[in-house]
Amino acid sequence: MRGLLPHGQEWAGDVLIRRLEPRLELIRAWCQPYQVIADVGAHEGLLARWLALDGHTVWATELTPGGFRELCRGVAGSPVVVRQGNGLAPLLRVPVDVVILAGLGGQTIRAILRRHHEMLSRPVYIVQPVPDALSFHQVVVAEAWTILRADIVRYRGRYYPTWMLAMTPAGQRDDGIDAFIPQEFSQAQEYRGWLERECERRRIALRYHDNARLMDELRRLEDELARIEGN
Ligand SMILES: C[S@@+](CC[C@H](N)C(=O)[O-])C[C@H]1O[C@@H](n2cnc3c(N)ncnc32)[C@H](O)[C@@H]1O
Repeated sequence: MRGLLPHGQEWAGDVLIRRLEPRLELIRAWCQPYQVIADVGAHEGLLARWLALDGHTVWATELTPGGFRELCRGVAGSPVVVRQGNGLAPLLRVPVDVVILAGLGGQTIRAILRRHHEMLSRPVYIVQPVPDALSFHQVVVAEAWTILRADIVRYRGRYYPTWMLAMTPAGQRDDGIDAFIPQEFSQAQEYRGWLERECERRRIALRYHDNARLMDELRRLEDELARIEGN
């Protein structure tokens, strides 16, 4: 008999494991059609363990020796393969289908993706930058990634925009995408709430200093809100 479960835990088969936050559940669901998954910056490896329980072959990495020790402790006893290293470096020769980059800053993710040309395989990337997601849209456009999926999760008052990206084949760049307004999320339930939050952040910042760029961004976000309200 299994009795009462510790708070936040559940049984997956005969393994007792902590539940994932909704933002990580989205990533787990997106991984479903793929076999080999790599989680870069996997921390204690909770998502990696769930993915392994789902039947995927999973690689998990951490940057620092301390982080790597924590990852090894977290996935002990599971089939998750662990590596220590920076970004894609430990995975360059691994035939992965999906690389997850979640919970890292947008600039860190951008720097990591710079090495994607060196990957043996041509994986798709699931990217969930925290906290600077709006500026990450500009990276997606500037570096001409193809957006396969885009959705936003709201959890405990925070928004987690998430992309699935693939390399764009040469010559197929779409120059019609707005560099600032992330319209790839316009079908997401949380799109309006996220835009309102981004407006609010700018209004607060503008109370303390006049800034032409922030003013312009606020105007464009408000225009986008008016556009979706008109639809
Ligand atoms: C905030 S945690 C997020 C953990 C998990 N991915 C999630 O979304 O909950 C970010 C983790 O990424 C690791 N990290 C940061 N930069 C990295 C890099 N360049 N390569 C690999 N891991 C990195 C950090 O050590 C940290 O454990």
